[in-house]
Amino acid sequence: MRKRLAILGATGSVGVSTLKIVEDFPDRFEVAALAAGRNTELLAGQVRRFRPRVVSVIDERAAADLAGRLGGIDVEILTGPAGAARVAAGEGVDLVVSAFVGATGLEPTWAAIEAGHDVALANKEVLVMAGELVMAHARRRNVRILPVDSEHAAVHQCLAGQRREDVRRVLLTASGGPFRTTPRERLREVTPAQALRHPNWDMGPKITVDSASLMNKGLEMIEARWLFDLPPDAIDVVIHPQSIVHSLVEFIDGSVMAQLGVPDMRGPIAYALALPERLPLSMERLDLTRVGTLTFEPPDLEKFPALGLASRALRDGGTQPAVLNAANEAAVGAFLEGKIAFTAIPETIRRAMDAHTARPLKEIGDAIAADAWAREHAARVIASLSI
Ligand SMILES: NC(=O)c1ccc[n+]([C@@H]2O[C@H](COP(=O)([O-])OP(=O)(O)OC[C@H]3O[C@@H](n4cnc5c(N)ncnc54)[C@H](OP(=O)(O)O)[C@@H]3O)[C@@H](O)[C@H]2O)c1
Repeated sequence: MRKRLAILGATGSVGVSTLKIVEDFPDRFEVAALAAGRNTELLAGQVRRFRPRVVSVIDERAAADLAGRLGGIDVEILTGPAGAARVAAGEGVDLVVSAFVGATGLEPTWAAIEAGHDVALANKEVLVMAGELVMAHARRRNVRILPVDSEHAAVHQCLAGQRREDVRRVLLTASGGPFRTTPRERLREVTPAQALRHPNWDMGPKITVDSASLMNKGLEMIEARWLFDLPPDAIDVVIHPQSIVHSLVEFIDGSVMAQLGVPDMRGPIAYALALPERLPLSMERLDLTRVGTLTFEPPDLEKFPALGLASRALRDGGTQPAVLNAANEAAVGAFLEGKIAFTAIPETIRRAMDAHTARPLKEIGDAIAADAWAREHAARVIASLSI
């Protein structure tokens, strides 16, 4: 039986890599449904190639454009958040690949869980905003949340067959991004083009900027807290510029397990798609003699305050991580549009967090309300910090 996939974010970096795997293993996977935003040219090609029954795009304009490109192809075209939720919750789906970017992914991922579908989760912001509720919902619905992020896929592999009470801590690796060696006083002037030049990974623009600020690692700490039910103190970060060791787990006896591989997202995506089996992927193999040296260093929290802010949100809990996430999304958007300096990203987040009193999360509406509040607050901060 082929696994039937619904892919949220089909036109993004993770979505396209997922479809490459489907293409390479046609007897293992089929595409039931796709959701995307505005890239109707790419989506139309995917619909022709993979023939999903249903697709969703961001709005009516994109839907009309897609319909025009598809001519007579028989596919139901849906729109907006309700369309994405239907793609995620549709019948005849075995696994939902959640790969929208940002807060947009929360509601369709929730809908997938509600429908009882397993989720391969790339969209870490879902767990940052409402990890406690999402994981509890998954347990109630008997749904598996499988990590796609390479670090969390690594931790998942290191934990396989181990007793949770034997884990001392998880160590997430970070490349350090394009500004690892840039002097702190130069960070104010770095441009979006420089921030988008990641040394090791080819990813969408938001996560690439998050990698440059180290916020990506902060979001991943919060993601790890919920995915693996770890206390905040048991999650650490180490800079590893080669991106070969994808993360590590230390056990109470001092033993440390690590997962290694070349930096190619097809590895962790295929792991989540095929679990508990492994796929014979045709990609570059890890040759440690060619890599030669693996290095590790502590993160510089003064130079990259975003990581400290994420730790703070992790400890505050409740609605604070949703505020951190929303303020970051707003600030990254403003930075990419050339409105604020790179260093104004953590400043915007800090001010939003300072102005917010964390409340417990009782329902996902609480996370969505905190997100909306933080975006409004961040917009005012961004206006005041504009260059
Ligand atoms: N890229 C990686 O290697 C990587 C690795 C680990 C984790 N992740 C995580 O995976 C997620 C996706 O990352 P990515 O790099 O693949 O992002 P991306 O390349 O920017 O793709 C984002 C996808 O979401 C769609 N989208 C965005 N906003 C939407 C909206 N409002 N409604 C409907 N669709 C919307 C985009 O559609 P259009 O383009 O059609 O508008 C696109 O398909 C992020 O949470 C990221 O942190 C990514």
